[in-house]
Amino acid sequence: MSASAAMPAAVRIVEVGPRDGLQNEKTDIGTARKIELIDRLSQTGLRSIEATAFVSPKWVPQMADAAEVLAGIARAPGVSYPVLVPNEAGYDRALAAGAREVAVFTAASEAFNRRNTNAGIEESLQRFQPVLERARADGVRVRGYVSTVLGCPYQGEVPLADVVRVARALYQMGCYEISLGDTIGVGTPGKARAMLRAVAGEVPMAALAIHFHDTYGQALANVLACLEEGVAVVDSAVAGAGGCPYAKGASGNLASEDLVYMLHGLGIETGVDLARLAETGRWLAGLLGRETGSKVGRALSS
Ligand code: HMG
Ligand code: MG
Repeated sequence: MSASAAMPAAVRIVEVGPRDGLQNEKTDIGTARKIELIDRLSQTGLRSIEATAFVSPKWVPQMADAAEVLAGIARAPGVSYPVLVPNEAGYDRALAAGAREVAVFTAASEAFNRRNTNAGIEESLQRFQPVLERARADGVRVRGYVSTVLGCPYQGEVPLADVVRVARALYQMGCYEISLGDTIGVGTPGKARAMLRAVAGEVPMAALAIHFHDTYGQALANVLACLEEGVAVVDSAVAGAGGCPYAKGASGNLASEDLVYMLHGLGIETGVDLARLAETGRWLAGLLGRETGSKVGRALSS
């Protein structure tokens, strides 16, 4: 079988711009514009839009308006709006605001997880236990993130075995999908492929997603390598917005426009209207006071 034989016919994009993007932008675009961003994105054909994070506002002030954002959006049929929750208190807030899907997050690096959530990896998994139990009873879907899968800003190298162990734990706890995050964007295609292959040995590929930051310009190449392994869910952020406040040097996510352009070029369906998405990216960049971080977004405007 050739390497590309496993390439998926369709990819579901999880748009993380309103959360992963905006959580680390210096400019606060305000609650009304956040709502408008999500509503614009839901008109592009995207089916998963991570809307906000019910984390501590002391830790991430940019997400303090999570409840208002979730209450204000016009929920489009067939679109899921997951929100980040770090603990049961976050789950309470998310549920009260009407969330139907949440995402829990931990890391493969102990040092990173402590800086990000003030807890070790095991402790964070214990925090998720009641969230998953309640979500099951409430009919709320839970996605799980593993951060620092290809490197950590504090620890450096992250052993593959740690990535596999944490991904498997989240899956066994009941997360329907595990997103593997290269939080600081240090990965390269060979390493990304090996990491995905190792995790797919323990968690079904159909339950895996990839999440690349583009710090070193490797995100698209990493995605291609992982598509060849058969992954069919990819996280990205419109206009390449964002970073992680607890990961020094983490630049924006892979730009959704660039991802869609590559996928369509490969004949892989996304259901996304690229022109509309690019227009939304340029609009967002304007609000952030800079040029869009998407090369495709720039090319389509000229
Ligand atoms: P802590 O300080 O240890 O929490 O933070 P605590 O339980 O001791 O509570 C301290 C205070 O926070 C209390 O309030 C709590 O009520 C409150 P006080 O009594 O001082 O007034 N609190 C909350 N308030 C609102 N919502 C909550 C909540 N929980 C407690 N959910 C905690 C621990 C986990 C809360 C904190 O560390 C936190 O919120 N961290 C989130 C950091 C974050 O959002 N990072 C970015 C997202 S992860 C990421 O970007 C990576 C990803 O994109 C994938 C990748 O790229 O790798 C997903
Ligand atoms: Mg991220």
